[in-house]
Amino acid sequence: MNKLWKHSSFSSSTDDHQWCTISIFIISILLFLSDVGNAFHFVLREKTQFCCTNHRKMTAKTNNNSYDSIMNGRGRRQQQRIVSTSISASSSGNNLVEPDENTSNYGRKEYWNEAYKEEEEFSWYSGWSDIEPFFTELVPVESKPRVLLPGIGNDSTMVEMYDYGYTRMKAFDYASEGIECAKRFFGPQRLFIDSDSRSNTPIEKKTRKDDEEGVDLRVADARDLSLLYEDNSFDAVLEKGTLDAVFLSGGKDKKVAGEQLQMAVSELARIVRTGGIVVSIAAPCADAVHAAFFVEPQTWKTIRDGNFYMTEEGYTSNNVDAKIFAWERL
Ligand SMILES: C[S@@+](CC[C@H](N)C(=O)[O-])C[C@H]1O[C@@H](n2cnc3c(N)ncnc32)[C@H](O)[C@@H]1O
Repeated sequence: MNKLWKHSSFSSSTDDHQWCTISIFIISILLFLSDVGNAFHFVLREKTQFCCTNHRKMTAKTNNNSYDSIMNGRGRRQQQRIVSTSISASSSGNNLVEPDENTSNYGRKEYWNEAYKEEEEFSWYSGWSDIEPFFTELVPVESKPRVLLPGIGNDSTMVEMYDYGYTRMKAFDYASEGIECAKRFFGPQRLFIDSDSRSNTPIEKKTRKDDEEGVDLRVADARDLSLLYEDNSFDAVLEKGTLDAVFLSGGKDKKVAGEQLQMAVSELARIVRTGGIVVSIAAPCADAVHAAFFVEPQTWKTIRDGNFYMTEEGYTSNNVDAKIFAWERL
């Protein structure tokens, strides 16, 4: 199945497994033949989510799907304008690339904006309760860290993270519709008072004092955050599926894809303070994400390398339907 996956719990039932495999096969053929567009795509997503809930092994198999199959994955939107790979210059002079819709939907801003107009809530790979033991071990909540969530989308589970105590939180997404969803989830009582997702002026850098609480939501591109965040302004980052998507924005050319990813990782290197932590939950492009943090070995120290990991309390990293990485900013 060419899909990134939502979090799930494991139970093994052979009948269910067979049922699930057959259903997925039939749905795949239907999609291939008819390209029924948005509605079916999201029905499929709900179905696969249901299947995953019952079949951890199927999830693992899915996560091993090739990069190319994901690149050419489903979810194509019949009604959408077909755009060519486009390149725009960022304020820092770098080229921000968008693939055409036949190459990769998950790398396209338009795709995400349309998705968020239709779908109120979706949490990729895992919710906060699954990530909590791994994140809190690396980033203690008592230290009142300044946390950044790149590409928050319509992941409502991050509200639980805020309520857990990570209240000095900033989040962004390049899809403005995702930020609108996030604003609704967090509600006015948790939003930073000056938070205005459409305002991305440099003035923002000065509007929030360091010790103030509240989530600050912005529309921004992970590959160029220069107008939004100061150097060394975060103690921790939790990203889930966003670096995957940034890599996919490079289209089929893996060199270009790597460059897009590198831009985002360089921005993380700039805005995370020395000793700060980046936690990444990645699946289809996990290898590329892993490699991107090795490009400058003097900048990042690997703390979690995507392999199986167990916390002192006994939580295992295979509770999360993707690989868990963590790096310390050197
Ligand atoms: C797979 S979704 C993950 C959403 C959310 N983090 C979650 O875990 O449910 C990827 C998200 O990254 C966002 N995204 C992709 N490329 C981006 C970029 N260059 N800058 C900012 N956000 C981006 C998309 O709009 C989308 O919301």
